[in-house]
Amino acid sequence: MTQTNTIAMEDLVSLCKRRGFIFPASEVYGGLNGFWDYGPLGTLLKNNLRDAWWRDMVLSPPDGPDGRPISVVGLDSSIIQNPRVWEASGHVEGFNDPMVDCKKSKSRYRADQLFCIGLKGDKEGRVYAFLEADAESRASALKKLGKEKKRTVEDEEVDVCSFMDLSEAERNLTVGPDAKEAGTLTEPRDFNLMFETFVGAIRSDDNRAFLRPETAQGIFLNFNNVVDTMRVKVPFGIAQIGKAFRNEVTPRNYIFRSREFEQMEIEWFCHEAESEKWFDFWCQVRRNWWESIGLTSDNVKMRRHDANELAHYAKDGCGTFDVEYQFPFTAPGFGELEGVAHRGNYDLRRHEEFSRKKLSYFDQERNERFLPHVIEPSAGLSRGTLAVLCEAFTPDPDRASKVYMKFHPRLAPIKAAVFPLVNKDGMPEVAERLFDELRTRWNVQYDAKQSIGKRYARMDEAGCPYCFTIDSDSLNDQSATVRHRDSQDQERVALDQVSTWLSERIESV
Ligand code: GAP
Repeated sequence: MTQTNTIAMEDLVSLCKRRGFIFPASEVYGGLNGFWDYGPLGTLLKNNLRDAWWRDMVLSPPDGPDGRPISVVGLDSSIIQNPRVWEASGHVEGFNDPMVDCKKSKSRYRADQLFCIGLKGDKEGRVYAFLEADAESRASALKKLGKEKKRTVEDEEVDVCSFMDLSEAERNLTVGPDAKEAGTLTEPRDFNLMFETFVGAIRSDDNRAFLRPETAQGIFLNFNNVVDTMRVKVPFGIAQIGKAFRNEVTPRNYIFRSREFEQMEIEWFCHEAESEKWFDFWCQVRRNWWESIGLTSDNVKMRRHDANELAHYAKDGCGTFDVEYQFPFTAPGFGELEGVAHRGNYDLRRHEEFSRKKLSYFDQERNERFLPHVIEPSAGLSRGTLAVLCEAFTPDPDRASKVYMKFHPRLAPIKAAVFPLVNKDGMPEVAERLFDELRTRWNVQYDAKQSIGKRYARMDEAGCPYCFTIDSDSLNDQSATVRHRDSQDQERVALDQVSTWLSERIESV
């Protein structure tokens, strides 16, 4: 049976702040909506997720559908490119969200994420808008409807429709999510999500440039360079991890939708005739990967995009699959974690047209020149970090910490901790020796302060999988007690075996 993800986001957000995972950006100035900083533990966690992806997709990618190794090479392209790039890619014209403002509360919403609740059959009555996948906002709309009808209104008594589907007259009868009266929402207007800047000293239209809204375009721009320098043959992939920027209308749900975030993208170039086979392959590979780094299968699912959701580049008939995760704020529903899109030859074709440079590929085996088709697994590194944090957060009222972070050992920011039971009687010296040995290979913490229970509690919140304690017996039998984070079981390990013991548990999983 599918488990609903029921953790309270405010508890997770508070742990992340308290333990140095994530802080609001510019906090001392009151923050800046849609921007976040990663603290020491958050940086380690995000880097571990990034490195796991790079290792598994680029350095040691899975075998292809025919069982033969595939080839993926890496790239690190500029955040700012020639502005013509974004005309060719379709972002200048088509990367818009419909935006609605509330004239009263001054709030701003994405029109396609606004839904309205009205009493069934009540054609003339007011409707109450709420934000999609936001249980609190929906409950508030129901409450307002109940107040108007002077009784409690239940879910099954209401009709729900999209704000975008309402006529102008119906929109005038709509009460916004943060409004008390009807008719304060404006008509939807298109809003381009790209951040603008100016290159050089003069702020003129000629010098206008954009911060990239996706890392993908840098890959298409370097297709020829990679083919010419790397001796790669189609099919092959180019991978890139980096920052992307979107001036989101409504950044929300913590780091889920922010204005500055990181992506991990692969553009897989192949012949059109093989593109569906590769599309299926990448859908499978990417879903399995998220499970391999610790997301439980109940919380992950694949969903095909409806025709009306497809991006401008998605190929007809093939479309896009999202890998979705059951975030606490979407539960029992799911939210996008990664998109696997069949982009056809849209991008290479458009860049050929706009740059007038050839981007086709000559396949010697087929004796054919063609524009490769592209399958694109595009994952959010920031959003992935959020999914990993949500998955790891495990309340446990019986522990001193009341909660522990059950990170997959590959992702855990701190791999092990070393404690002297007491800070005397020769124990610190043995513990320091062990710590010095382990820290040459992993991020390990030494902690000699406070009671052992408090030290375990700190490591439980940080998600450290193994704590090694040096006690008075250690001096005689040359072994340490290791405590397992999840089961809290303890066992003895010989001091000269600790490194091998740890390596087996955190590296080959
Ligand atoms: N190159 C294709 C592309 O960018 P996308 O579905 O717009 O596709 C891919 O973005 C992934 O990037 C998403 O699945 C999500 O994980 C992440 N992402 C997109 N917008 C985001 C935002 N505002 N904040 C955090 N992550 C975001």
